[in-house]
Amino acid sequence: PLFNLHSRDEVGSTNDEVRLLAEQGAQDGTVVWALRQSAGRGRQGRTWVSPEGNLYFSLLLRPRVPIAEAANLSFVASLALADAIRHFSPDIKLSLKWPNDVLIEGQKVSGVLLESKARPSAELEYLIMGIGVNLKNYPDDARYPATSLFEQINQNTPHPGKMLKAFLNNFDPWYKLWNKDGFAAVRAAWLDQAHGLGKKIYVRLPGETLSGRFVTIDKDGALDLDLDNGKQRLITAGDVFFT
Ligand code: BTN
Repeated sequence: PLFNLHSRDEVGSTNDEVRLLAEQGAQDGTVVWALRQSAGRGRQGRTWVSPEGNLYFSLLLRPRVPIAEAANLSFVASLALADAIRHFSPDIKLSLKWPNDVLIEGQKVSGVLLESKARPSAELEYLIMGIGVNLKNYPDDARYPATSLFEQINQNTPHPGKMLKAFLNNFDPWYKLWNKDGFAAVRAAWLDQAHGLGKKIYVRLPGETLSGRFVTIDKDGALDLDLDNGKQRLITAGDVFFT
């Protein structure tokens, strides 16, 4: 898409700003970027602490696909984020945590929050791709070990605007590939960088924690887990841990 950027000093959540614009008919490619968020949100209803220094933005997309395919885009987002980070630090060791976190040395450096609206026909009306990248700060009370780009690459750490530009530049080709060839090519590229593939992992679901071997992601992106009791389980939402 052609990107149409709105810059703000502070908002509650950039996802909410983009939702307002989407409801007013904003185009595919609309972006809201804020220096700070007072009510940043993470996945699974968590808070995303958003002090100045990091990157916080949301991107509006209107692909014409069934709502069921919207989740494909979380993998597109993490591939583009990994490329954007490598743009500033080519030799950095990155891996991708299901469904959409980027890890450096096993610690989370970015997160993606997708929110979508469907038409009555079950076609996607729009998708809001909210992205946070820890450039300068990271929460020390995080449920999952976190890091910042600054902790990893010091003076090579870009300012938020530079990182946003690198993301958008790298998002474009992945998004085009997904539009043209569907999820298969994205899936293969994601699996190439997947963290813990073939290994024992834990998946926290509401009310239970599963453990088993991380076999693959299926043709729709669901996590395929070989449970310790020998049964197979396909997981579409949950939190992955490696220890
Ligand atoms: C997660 O890993 O839990 C997802 C974090 C997503 C955070 C970003 S910051 C920009 C956008 N606005 C929000 O309120 N959340 C997302």
